Amino acid sequence: MVYKNILDLIGNTPIVQLNSFDIRESNLYIKLENLNPMGSIKDRIGLSMIENAEREGKIKPGGTIVEATAGNTGLGLTLAATLKGYKIILVIPDKMSKEKVDHLSAMGAEILMTRSDVEKGHPEYYQDYAERIAEEIPGAFYIDQFSNPYNPLAHELKTGPEIWEQMNGNIDAIVLGVGSAGTIGGLTSYFKKVKPDIKFILADPAGSILKDYFYHKEFGKPGSWLVEGIGEDFIPIHSDFSLVREAYSISDKEAFSTARKLLREEGIFSGSSTGVLLAAAVKYAQQTKKPENILTFSCDTGNKYLSKMYNDAWLEENI
Ligand SMILES: Cc1ncc(COP(=O)(O)O)c(C=O)c1O
Repeated sequence: MVYKNILDLIGNTPIVQLNSFDIRESNLYIKLENLNPMGSIKDRIGLSMIENAEREGKIKPGGTIVEATAGNTGLGLTLAATLKGYKIILVIPDKMSKEKVDHLSAMGAEILMTRSDVEKGHPEYYQDYAERIAEEIPGAFYIDQFSNPYNPLAHELKTGPEIWEQMNGNIDAIVLGVGSAGTIGGLTSYFKKVKPDIKFILADPAGSILKDYFYHKEFGKPGSWLVEGIGEDFIPIHSDFSLVREAYSISDKEAFSTARKLLREEGIFSGSSTGVLLAAAVKYAQQTKKPENILTFSCDTGNKYLSKMYNDAWLEENI
């Protein structure tokens, strides 16, 4: 089959069974979002948010798209913007991996680097900074994955139905992380319609406030973590925890070693957040009352982390 252009290759990612993790009698599956054209689950929302902004007249031909992004959303947006002829400006916190930033620059995105060590409300916080830039540039549109309804909708209309169909409805639990909360928001809306008793398991990097918020509806001061793309220091508005039954907090060290095991033993080359999800999936599988069919995601490709968690010297220095 020949595709019309690269955007047609977004989504419809395969699901693979994992065989080397200690999960008792359960089955563990992983949906390979790393195989999207730009290498992450965020390609889906890049396309969805741009096409809907066009449809609603929020971006005009030759216009500029601005976003605050940890990298992957930037890559997805840059792909769609490139094919559709828009300029793109991305505000990126400085802890993000060099591979992602270099990839974005190579594609022609304009990068504005900002501080990772400031919280929401600070003028240099990446989201506040992006919003300000978009107001200053005529004809610019701040796409804002954190409030854009076409972020969760991409998962409600595509990711959810794909999972349901690929698993033939034989699925008990989904283990997932929260960054912008688009995935959890969209999958919750979809699965409430087809299988409202499905269990969502929240996988959260240690230092993020989401696990405490889920259990206690309150949280203390956020810590810091090295895993990229998931975990938050606030509650994103797309968050919907109504299907979440349990939450696990996973250290950077455990996330990195789990992602490295996934590569060494299963040949699946994923990023650091996948290590968080998979470590949580294994913990969950080890304590279920009955065997379950458990699905998680390879959220992005390991290529973006060769200088970090796949680099022994970096690991030694940082863990
Ligand atoms: C790299 C990365 N970004 C983001 C997310 C989370 O997605 P969302 O922004 O939809 O919450 C994940 C995991 O699901 C991820 O691994």
